[in-house]
Amino acid sequence: MLTSLLPVLQKAQRGGYAVGAFNINNLETLQAVMEAAERELSPVILSTSEGAIEYAGMEELGALVHLAAKKSKRPVVFHLDHGKNEALVIRAITSGLYTSVMFDGSSLPYKENVAKTKKIVALAHKTNISVEAELGAIAGIEDFVSVEERNAHFTGAKQAQDFIQQTHCDALAVAIGTSHGAYKFSGDSRLDFKRLEQIKKVAPIPLVLHGASGIPHAIKKVCIAYGCKIEKAKGISDAHIKRAVALGINKVNIDSDLRIAFDAGIRKFLAENPEVIDPRKILTPAKELITKVVQQKMRLLGCSGKG
Ligand code: G3H
Ligand code: 13P
Ligand code: ZN
Repeated sequence: MLTSLLPVLQKAQRGGYAVGAFNINNLETLQAVMEAAERELSPVILSTSEGAIEYAGMEELGALVHLAAKKSKRPVVFHLDHGKNEALVIRAITSGLYTSVMFDGSSLPYKENVAKTKKIVALAHKTNISVEAELGAIAGIEDFVSVEERNAHFTGAKQAQDFIQQTHCDALAVAIGTSHGAYKFSGDSRLDFKRLEQIKKVAPIPLVLHGASGIPHAIKKVCIAYGCKIEKAKGISDAHIKRAVALGINKVNIDSDLRIAFDAGIRKFLAENPEVIDPRKILTPAKELITKVVQQKMRLLGCSGKG
């Protein structure tokens, strides 16, 4: 059943676990993620980025999600991921499709981020749509040469407290050292847990961790074995995700892990079955691999059995 983000995250906050937000772009990724939610009896957040909307269409993705949610007994949130374009965020809110939107004003000057987020929250709350906002730049530790530079880009506790009070957003994405994509670290995964603890002390709302893919070794190996050039790909360790959840993260965003699962599944199948041209046969193992990855994430985050 479709639900807004806030009650799902509030329950997670009370229970000390996180709910996975998985990016979907087409029927296959949607089916694969929903299958995992059914197998794990888990709530699920289905995210569509601006790029996903450009690729497949808002109404098209919305129709697929609504049908899937109607057929399911699991709590399903339909979420706009990283809405940077204000007009698109407003379109999502007024479309009657989304139950949650992210307004990502993180690249704006602080005052502008506050003002725009506030405006989006007021509009979204009229129809019970939840709003996630972002403060700080979600880019990896590798990107910053000095501590000063890092501090300027990561989310500060004091500013987070002020931001939440002023905007009344429902959830806040924080920058503590993760980054988007499959190349997050050159060495071991490192997150600023002290900063997360400080933010948690003053932030009463659920916190969100973006850029949380782990780039599982076994799947990366399959990709590489069948020709994908991702030798240097590296994600967040499971232990660090667990620690972030224990310290108060209640929503965890995953996209890259689904992408490499899709890639591994397709490359392997095509290499081993060069005579097959049926897209349904080609995509089936890729879907199954995505489902397995999502199931593992749900167990890691603690949301299995919570839906
Ligand atoms: O946060 C970014 C997500 O991975 C979506 O990526 O903008 O390429 O669809 P995308
Ligand atoms: P990954 O690239 O680590 O999967 O992050 C996805 C994300 O944060 C989507 O908003
Ligand atoms: Zn993100």
